[in-house]
Amino acid sequence: MAVAASYSLLPFHHHHHQASTFNFHYLSRPHSRFSTRFSSPNLRRQIHASATDFLDPILSIVQPLITTEVVLFSCPICYEPLIRKGPPGFNLPAIYRSGFQCNKCKKTYSSKNIYLDLTVTAGTTEYTEFQPTRTELFRSPLVSFLYERGWRQNFNSSGFPGPDEEFEMAQEYFKPSEDGIIVDVSCGSGLFSRKFAKSGTYSKVVALDFSENMLRQCYDFIKNDESILLSNLALVRADVSRLPFSSSSIDAVHAGAALHCWPSPSNAIAEINRVLRSGGVFVGTTFLRANSGILRAFLQRSVTSSYNYFTEEEIADLCRTCGLINFTSQVRQSFIMFSAQKP
Ligand SMILES: C[S@@+](CC[C@H](N)C(=O)[O-])C[C@H]1O[C@@H](n2cnc3c(N)ncnc32)[C@H](O)[C@@H]1O
Repeated sequence: MAVAASYSLLPFHHHHHQASTFNFHYLSRPHSRFSTRFSSPNLRRQIHASATDFLDPILSIVQPLITTEVVLFSCPICYEPLIRKGPPGFNLPAIYRSGFQCNKCKKTYSSKNIYLDLTVTAGTTEYTEFQPTRTELFRSPLVSFLYERGWRQNFNSSGFPGPDEEFEMAQEYFKPSEDGIIVDVSCGSGLFSRKFAKSGTYSKVVALDFSENMLRQCYDFIKNDESILLSNLALVRADVSRLPFSSSSIDAVHAGAALHCWPSPSNAIAEINRVLRSGGVFVGTTFLRANSGILRAFLQRSVTSSYNYFTEEEIADLCRTCGLINFTSQVRQSFIMFSAQKP
């Protein structure tokens, strides 16, 4: 099987940068196409030439050793595992420099920007697709920029305890998933993904969102923090209704303040169920709809708000109909944190 990746290696010795200013622009871009150029003598010479750079502790992480391996990620079209070509290691620099290819349909995926794009539409040149306003809003550069600079703090007035306390609460629910793989679906600018990565509780942390600009913000918050930059964290663009993982491969799924933003909560939770392993835990937070009256529901959904708010009973019902069990919740004003488990 010819799945050799081709990617060029920048002459690292031209860039003597400090760890704290480590920047992906110094790294070579992975080519999205796979080819047999990988084995060219020229590339091997370049690999050899940059060997002295291994002395640099940062660059040693992204040492140009090329491995071929089946990785955590799956093709969003086939759900077949992706094969990865690139430097070893599950961290931002290594993933950034890797090329990925579906074992089955052969579609390739790469990090054209700082995140790995695993949406179905990755690679389109003409076609664009628009999501509902509640999803599109967060794709804007301005909202993404403001999100952790005031926007999120506003949630406190609705009863949200704030990131630190929400993180502690979520960690309690995730006890059965310790040392496992956690996916922060709809991570936004990554305020929880960073905490999950820093906690050292998980073997792998995937910060996943549909918004390109949120993922860029996420990287901006991470790039100057070496302890996160080089931790077991990946930045992935994907749709929560089409998660790029094999069935039963994930130990924990977190979705902070996101259910009300999703195009289809039922497709999303069915998909979360699919990727969770047996016993795996899903924890989400959202704003509750105060009143379950039909007129209120109608108004809220069609006129006054583009968000989708639910009652606690609706969320419990949704989790149950999507096959999850052991629903629990904690409510404070409009804030709800709920958890459910894969049977
Ligand atoms: C209010 S923010 C929450 C961010 C963060 N988790 C928090 O707790 O503050 C909602 C996020 O949901 C994301 N989102 C909306 N639709 C999505 C979809 N279809 N798939 C994945 N993420 C989506 C948005 O891009 C946005 O970043």
